[in-house]
Amino acid sequence: MHPDWKRICDEFLTATCYSPEELDEYWTDRTYDRDNRPDTYLTHPDALVRVPLGEPTFPPTPDLWTVLRERRSKRNFLPEPLSLNELNCLLWGSQGIVQDMGGYQLRTAPSAGALYPIETYMVVNRVQGLEPGLYHLDVEGWALEGLRLADLSDEVCAALLDQEAVRASGVTFLWTCVLDRCLAKYYERAFRYVWWDVGHISENLSLAATALGLGVCIIGAWHDSLVHELIGIDGREHFSALTSAVGRVAGQDWQEDRRAPS
Ligand SMILES: Cc1cc2nc3c(=O)[nH]c(=O)nc-3n(C[C@H](O)[C@H](O)[C@H](O)COP(=O)(O)O)c2cc1C
Repeated sequence: MHPDWKRICDEFLTATCYSPEELDEYWTDRTYDRDNRPDTYLTHPDALVRVPLGEPTFPPTPDLWTVLRERRSKRNFLPEPLSLNELNCLLWGSQGIVQDMGGYQLRTAPSAGALYPIETYMVVNRVQGLEPGLYHLDVEGWALEGLRLADLSDEVCAALLDQEAVRASGVTFLWTCVLDRCLAKYYERAFRYVWWDVGHISENLSLAATALGLGVCIIGAWHDSLVHELIGIDGREHFSALTSAVGRVAGQDWQEDRRAPS
């Protein structure tokens, strides 16, 4: 832990504030060329396998108000796998492109300035038709890119502070942030926006999972360096932003579904 963390965190809040006195000055000398902005899309051409996702098939689901009421953090996952279509629905609900605005493609979750700095990586443990391993979502091409094909359940569980729900999950989402996409436009304020962006994505995922009758738990406790190592990112320009475990649950008793597996 950094010995001076309190001062640094206080300074972060001050340094990233907007104030009426300073807002004009804030934009002076700061330019942003939207036509030459950092790339919105990251792909891995060297992926070991590419799995096109296509349009998801949306099953009948409860209405929005029921979904909002029933969303609970659930951790007691069953060994039964998710289907690939369920994973596709989860990805579409959290990051699917739904509108073209000319130069900006808008997604199911909002993003500050439509800059979309968040990338979706996944450790797949149990999804029908997918080899276990580390995958990345190619958002533009709507495909999964398999980056490491192996049972990574122990590695991801250790990286997420040994939370057993992660080992038992069908899939654990590891969202990362490519900072420059947001920083190039919003400078210091970007350091707030990126966390809000990922919060919206995670809530979309939670609602989509609930609508599908799956269990979902957002996980904010992870060893940053271990997640960066697992994915193969530098942890500075491209760093971990949030994680979430999804799996099948019994669905009889929400408190039983909610408890951490022993
Ligand atoms: C940012 C964030 C981080 C969280 N981190 C964890 C976590 O590391 N482990 C865990 O079991 N639950 C985690 N949770 C889930 C909370 O414990 C849960 O949302 C809270 O108990 C309220 O219950 P509910 O989600 O069922 O309404 C997290 C939730 C959020 C929003």
